[in-house]
Amino acid sequence: MTDAILLHRERGLLTLTLNRPDKKNALTRAMYAQLAHALRDADQDPEINAVLICGSADCFTAGNDIADFLQAPPNSLDSPVFHFMLALLDCRKPVIAAVAGAAVGIGTTLLLHCDLVYVSRDARLRMPFVNLGLCPEFGSSLILPRLLGHAKAAELLLLGEGFSGEQAAAWGLASEAMGSGEAALAKAREVGLRFETLSADAVAISKQLMKAPDREQLRRVIEEEGALFVQRLKSPEAVAALSGFINRG
Ligand code: COA
Repeated sequence: MTDAILLHRERGLLTLTLNRPDKKNALTRAMYAQLAHALRDADQDPEINAVLICGSADCFTAGNDIADFLQAPPNSLDSPVFHFMLALLDCRKPVIAAVAGAAVGIGTTLLLHCDLVYVSRDARLRMPFVNLGLCPEFGSSLILPRLLGHAKAAELLLLGEGFSGEQAAAWGLASEAMGSGEAALAKAREVGLRFETLSADAVAISKQLMKAPDREQLRRVIEEEGALFVQRLKSPEAVAALSGFINRG
């Protein structure tokens, strides 16, 4: 266990806080494993109505830990990062995200699988996979073109252009953009606690109905993207780009 993920229970709301501020909450294998475990446990726990994922007041997450990518890249779909993806995909309970500051890579793509997403207006979201010699992951190559159209999704996925929390809400990637990170977290908490007033079965059935039409296709795409991502991580371009980040002056 590591305190890089904090678990806090408030009535029926489980909050998972990404807590590695010195590294901008970059996600290590241990953190993915803990997140996957916490999500699977929450799904089974009748006392938990909803899960909230948040970061620090100034940063959601800088995405996958780049040193980890170099030292111990995921080499199959049986890796902690994929366990996390599948645990989030499979979670039958509402998952809420509160986002402030940077949300890079999987910090943005994980939001595509949450049910309710509250962002600060000035949050900075970005998926620089191609910029790093990699390719899209976590279903983003399927979800984003559907949601935004191919041309807008290509700006985000092929060029790696960043966008704000305000844009994320306008495009339907977030539920609402708030004036600050604190306001986004407060809103996420308030909404998360509201689930205790609703029938857990009605909520679960409704989420299942909303997700079911795409679930199997999404799972296949996540596996296909994952296999290509694992290959790309070994490419000279990716190794150079990732090493360049680690060795920057
Ligand atoms: N993996 C590992 N370490 C990371 C990291 C990551 N993804 N992102 C940031 N860090 C570390 C930095 O190396 C630095 O560590 P140091 O103080 O020991 O040198 C520390 O976190 C602070 O980062 P810094 O870049 O100085 O902060 P910033 O506020 O200027 O910028 C970001 C924040 C998130 C915009 C920037 O760090 C960034 O772009 N990170 C890489 C994001 C990325 O490409 N993720 C992978 C996507 S697949």
